[in-house]
Amino acid sequence: MDIKKLIGEMTLEEKAMLCSGLNFWETKPVERLDIPKIMMTDGPHGLRKVASGPSTGHRPSKEATCFPPAVLSACSFDRELLYELGAAIGQEALSENVRIVLGPGVNIKRSPLCGRNFEYFSEDPYLAGEMAASFIDGVQGKGVGTSIKHFAANNQETRRWSSDSVIDERTLREIYLPAFKKAITKAKPATVMCSYNRLNGEYASENRRLLTEILRDEWGFEGIVISDWGAVNDRVLGLKAGMDLEMPGAAVPSNDELIVRAVRAGELDEAVLNLAAERILTVISKYKGDKSRTGDEETRTFDVDAHDAIARKIASESMVLLKNEDNILPLSKTAKVAIIGEMAEKPRYQGSGSSAVNAFRVTSALEAARGCAAVTYSKGYDVKNCDEPSQQLMAEAVSAAKSADVCVVFVGLPHHYESEGYDRLHMRMPEGMNKLILAVASANPNVVVVLSNGAPVEMPWAGEVKGILEGYIGGQAGGGAACDILFGDVNPCGKLAETLPIKLSDNPSYLYYFGERDTTQYREGIFVGYRYYDKKEMEVLFPFGHGMSYTSFEYSNLRLSSAKIDDTQTLTVTANIKNTGNAAGKEIVQLYVGQKNIDDRLIRAEKELRGFAKISLAPGESKAVEFTLDKSAFSYYNTQIADFHVLSEDYIIMVGRSSRDIALCGEVYVKSTVKAPQRANPNTTVRDIRRMERGGEFLSYIAKKFPQHANINEEALADGSNYEHIRCVPEFVFRQTRLMGSMPGVTDADIQAWMDEILNEENV
Ligand code: BGC
Repeated sequence: MDIKKLIGEMTLEEKAMLCSGLNFWETKPVERLDIPKIMMTDGPHGLRKVASGPSTGHRPSKEATCFPPAVLSACSFDRELLYELGAAIGQEALSENVRIVLGPGVNIKRSPLCGRNFEYFSEDPYLAGEMAASFIDGVQGKGVGTSIKHFAANNQETRRWSSDSVIDERTLREIYLPAFKKAITKAKPATVMCSYNRLNGEYASENRRLLTEILRDEWGFEGIVISDWGAVNDRVLGLKAGMDLEMPGAAVPSNDELIVRAVRAGELDEAVLNLAAERILTVISKYKGDKSRTGDEETRTFDVDAHDAIARKIASESMVLLKNEDNILPLSKTAKVAIIGEMAEKPRYQGSGSSAVNAFRVTSALEAARGCAAVTYSKGYDVKNCDEPSQQLMAEAVSAAKSADVCVVFVGLPHHYESEGYDRLHMRMPEGMNKLILAVASANPNVVVVLSNGAPVEMPWAGEVKGILEGYIGGQAGGGAACDILFGDVNPCGKLAETLPIKLSDNPSYLYYFGERDTTQYREGIFVGYRYYDKKEMEVLFPFGHGMSYTSFEYSNLRLSSAKIDDTQTLTVTANIKNTGNAAGKEIVQLYVGQKNIDDRLIRAEKELRGFAKISLAPGESKAVEFTLDKSAFSYYNTQIADFHVLSEDYIIMVGRSSRDIALCGEVYVKSTVKAPQRANPNTTVRDIRRMERGGEFLSYIAKKFPQHANINEEALADGSNYEHIRCVPEFVFRQTRLMGSMPGVTDADIQAWMDEILNEENV
């Protein structure tokens, strides 16, 4: 396709019509010029291609593999696994002639309440970005495009069409944008889907700063921006902002027409339209695929069983063993096991909304367990009606528990508890489930709970049971995966991609979540997830990064390539990890960085995830794990220079098993090579002046000008340890001295001039 030539040949109307969908799922073809249409469908954990023709919306879809949703796959911390997931979805897309997969979703989990958390990876932007980049590489490696979503700051479902996410610049840059930035710069997704909400007053779909200045000018994105379905308000404004393709098809009166009219009226530069059309054609040309295939071709070019096995592997390598007292797990296949809870029979394996896949097959945990051991089953509750306990079902479960060696209770969040489109109001599981666990635990001391949930739940019974397996929602093979872990066929190796707080009110966004009418202020700022809980030294139920194994790992011999680096250099961090148990296992080694001495210059988290590696170790085996850290591991966003910046400081390198189980620590001094100008003024404290490169020189200079003041002398000023004394200097020099009249004629302007002479444009 000669795109420039095509643009030249297209009429104004043709170019405008290219900027909106033909229907719910396809772009418009221009037959005259041999421009084909392409199809896109959800979604992030499996294909949802509508079965009854492309003009329908949320209708039953064709069968596809339902892989584990992001809430679970993120817990794998496994880039290769995410690549494999993407590649499998890409393969299914190819077989259905789908050219763009609408995923992954990388919004940050600000609150456990977000109804769509199951579709998102993490509370941590580094992890979310890494997972998304691998997923995109996997899909796009098959020649199928992706649409990373929902750009940006779409962290609640409540009023998602209108709510305005009010976020300060630093928080935006450090928490809510980096996952997008990482995935976009690293994996180059074909498209970005803008979100419904507003960001700092402007709809994402009309936000020039977001869609052009940040996305394209700063990050170099070359694909197209697609609107979330129905996210367009003012189409012309959107086009000017960089929103290329409106999905689904244009509203009536057609937005295409509005574009044409705006160009004719001189309100929209045709060059803007040309650029959008050019980008759309570039994506169509790259992803259109083989012309000979038709939209409804049924040929399956993938192996349904093999994909089921991939789904099971991803789930079993992602589920998180939270607790394993007395090594209750793995279960012996000859033990008398009572399986309790209807979710074992009717699994909750995915969330509701646009990502819901019509799964080829679903394996329940009960079915899988029956293949492993002679188990008994009792329902325990009715999942459709479990807000209150059923005394009869509970009594049956208790009686089953009494005659078993071990009880495995399957509980979680029923479908209607969480979904796209609304948020939860609390973090509790249904009372019928909580009561059931306690009743079973009082009948049998050996209880394991398996959870099926898309987001954290309160666990008032956590102390009463010996084992907890966080299965999240596991996709079509989740039941089998849970049994793989329960019966020891797989050694658990997932770790939490989010903190599990004890109760909802512990969460940092608790006071502000949902907002007030159409405004949601992100007042907790950068303190999201473990960044908050760690800073507050709060007890949590299970910390970010936590996850147990049937073996144990010893961490030793931390090496840093240097004790001091410039921020333009990299630091290599190496640690040895040894499997000291009897089973082969995988360990997720996590690297966090924290500034050693946090002071009044910058509000900072105690530690931030800056690297992770998943390694596989046979019993007794040891491996060296190496991380390379660059400037991004040490920097914060400095709004003054509108860029990331490093404070010249000592940093602690922490390597460990979780955010709260740091095994090894080292230190490095990182020196900034970038000046972040801070203009001293007459009110600047001596402390800040001293931090400046020529601060000492300036203070000596000042001291010489005030010899009559005994406490202002060069010696005192040079003695940084005598901080209290020194602190009074600016008062004397810049305020009291003049007010007391002892230095008549010295004005603020004089002081500023002395400062400018020596201190101007200093490094902070
Ligand atoms: C959702 C998107 C989805 C789209 C198409 C929207 O309502 O927010 O995530 O891709 O529908 O189904």
